[in-house]
Amino acid sequence: MVTSTQYDVLKEIMLTRGSVKSYDATHVMPEEEINELLTLASSAPSSWNLQHWRYLVISKPEQKQKMLPVAYGQKQVVEASIVVAILGDLEAYRTAHQIYGDAVEQGIMTRELRDNLVSQIEGAYADKLRAQMDSTLNCGLTAMQLMLTAKSMGYDSCPMGGFNPQKLIQEFNVPERYFPVLLVSIGKAAQPARPSSRLSLNELVIRESF
Ligand SMILES: Cc1cc2nc3c(=O)[nH]c(=O)nc-3n(C[C@H](O)[C@H](O)[C@H](O)COP(=O)(O)O)c2cc1C
Repeated sequence: MVTSTQYDVLKEIMLTRGSVKSYDATHVMPEEEINELLTLASSAPSSWNLQHWRYLVISKPEQKQKMLPVAYGQKQVVEASIVVAILGDLEAYRTAHQIYGDAVEQGIMTRELRDNLVSQIEGAYADKLRAQMDSTLNCGLTAMQLMLTAKSMGYDSCPMGGFNPQKLIQEFNVPERYFPVLLVSIGKAAQPARPSSRLSLNELVIRESF
């Protein structure tokens, strides 16, 4: 059961998260915190539990400098403690064998169900566009968890779609199997996020049918 304290904490984290563009460039994020962040981000749900995301973590100053032109000069990529490039898996069907194989070994899934799911996944992802769209969708879910986890750990973040994917692939030797979906800068805020507004529910919500 969700207690009012859990609700209050989550609400506070959600409503105080904002896209921070200026960070304390001297702050170094400890490895344990990076691992905690990514562990919680990777607990996001995904289609068929295929976990279509990979995290390219940039923390070294020289690598951040390489990221600067990739991100069209947006300075948060050099000031932030880390930049996480979230990469989508174009061949997520490959992971099915591992995930469902483990489940069969642990006795939590029958072989028949595994074979059924694997053939369903292979059928769906034979369509390359579907595979890419599904990866993008699932990467969005882990990105949101990453940003909320960062906020709850005393960090701020900024999601960034403003980057050149081809250049990122070249500069960071990204294998063909993966494609860049989103950059997320994470660090200690030097300046707060600019206030932002949202559309009202009247504008956003359609009840039952258009
Ligand atoms: C997919 C996506 C791409 C974005 N790209 C950039 C970006 O390249 N640079 C940037 O400074 N902010 C970027 N933003 C941040 C948005 O401008 C910001 O989320 C929006 O204005 C709402 O403000 P808030 O995040 O502070 O609530 C991006 C956000 C999203 C979700």
